[in-house]
Amino acid sequence: MNYNFTPFPVLETERLSLRALNLDDAKSIFGLRTNKEVNEFIDRKTPNNLSEARAFIDLISNLTANNKGIFWVIESKSNHQLIGTIGLRHFEDEENYAEIGYELDPVYQQKGFMSEAFEVVLNFGFTDLALNTIEAFTHKNNIPSIALLKKQKFVLHPERRDEGFENNRSYRLESA
Ligand SMILES: CC(C)(COP(=O)(O)OP(=O)(O)OC[C@H]1O[C@@H](n2cnc3c(N)ncnc32)[C@H](O)[C@@H]1OP(=O)(O)O)[C@@H](O)C(=O)NCCC(=O)NCCS
Repeated sequence: MNYNFTPFPVLETERLSLRALNLDDAKSIFGLRTNKEVNEFIDRKTPNNLSEARAFIDLISNLTANNKGIFWVIESKSNHQLIGTIGLRHFEDEENYAEIGYELDPVYQQKGFMSEAFEVVLNFGFTDLALNTIEAFTHKNNIPSIALLKKQKFVLHPERRDEGFENNRSYRLESA
């Protein structure tokens, strides 16, 4: 499957706008990616300053421009704040497969926002991209993330491993 993310597919829900990342988001992205609560179960390199946040934005923009991944900023329609991110990546053509990643500012957690974002992103993945499988790797103790995935009917695959992240577990959702 040849994906094409130009023009960028903006997705809308009742309370959210899922749009492309741009350099004006550097401060919010820096805040999100350095937030201790957000990072509790995510093993990743965090930016040390705004210029590293901008480098991350460049990397993501190139990934999307090259159709290797797609990353949405989750913006609240009520206050136009960047409240989180969600993305699909690691496409594997033969299997029509992608991996999903997601994070939300703690102030906005447990209000159904990520469930709302998941619904449009999963629909985009299975319908527009014709994916068969979407997989999430999440830390085995990440209760909020596991609750979200189970609510979306993702199924645990205990035999699968996330290379280099031995505490991560695989949850997969197949197209209907
Ligand atoms: C995981 C995360 C995105 C969930 O987002 P959210 O918007 O709070 O989730 P929702 O409000 O849509 O809730 C989805 C379900 O999970 C449950 N849930 C959410 N947070 C929970 C918590 N702290 N404890 C128990 N259940 C929780 C909700 O109750 C809901 O189920 P319900 O409708 O049956 O009640 C958010 O906690 C987060 O950003 N965590 C930090 C980043 C992270 O770990 N990302 C995952 C990397 S793999």
